Amino acid sequence: MRRRLLVLGAATFLAVGGSVALEMISSSDEVCAAQAKTSFSDDVVPILTGHCYSCHTPGGQGSQKSGLDLSTYDGVMHGTKSGKMVIPGDPDSSNLMWLLEWRGAPETHMPLGKKKLSTCDRDTIRAWIREGALNN
Ligand code: HEC
Repeated sequence: MRRRLLVLGAATFLAVGGSVALEMISSSDEVCAAQAKTSFSDDVVPILTGHCYSCHTPGGQGSQKSGLDLSTYDGVMHGTKSGKMVIPGDPDSSNLMWLLEWRGAPETHMPLGKKKLSTCDRDTIRAWIREGALNN
């Protein structure tokens, strides 16, 4: 009898734990509005406009200092004076992700002097790069 109770208890624990885990997964989906395919113009550009354009359009301090113009697809793909920031298909080798995740020196934390991009925004850019960094 005692043993049966224990088994029942374990089953209840698993059931509750399982549904909590499921809820966590589905609620994070909601927040990030996960999509089948990421679009440069619909998903990436709004993030860049909101967080990067103030410095990375022609004449801005970020563009002047690094040469990186984020106001066009070609600008994003061209990268900085010292090289490409986006390697299509390979977010882990893309310097852009490195800087957005604040992995380098503080002066390379982008957006400079502001809050880190949300996890959802960073995931969107990461997904776009993984899917080939298309002009879509
Ligand atoms: C307040 C101004 C400002 C904002 C906003 C800003 N940047 Fe920058 N960014 C700079 C400056 C200044 C540099 C040059 C840093 C240096 O070379 O020391 C730079 C450099 C960069 C570089 C090149 C770094 C390198 O290694 O050469 C990348 C990539 C970059 N920014 C991406 C972004 C992205 C993406 C955003 C938006 C999420 C953003 N920046 C927002 C000012 C800004």
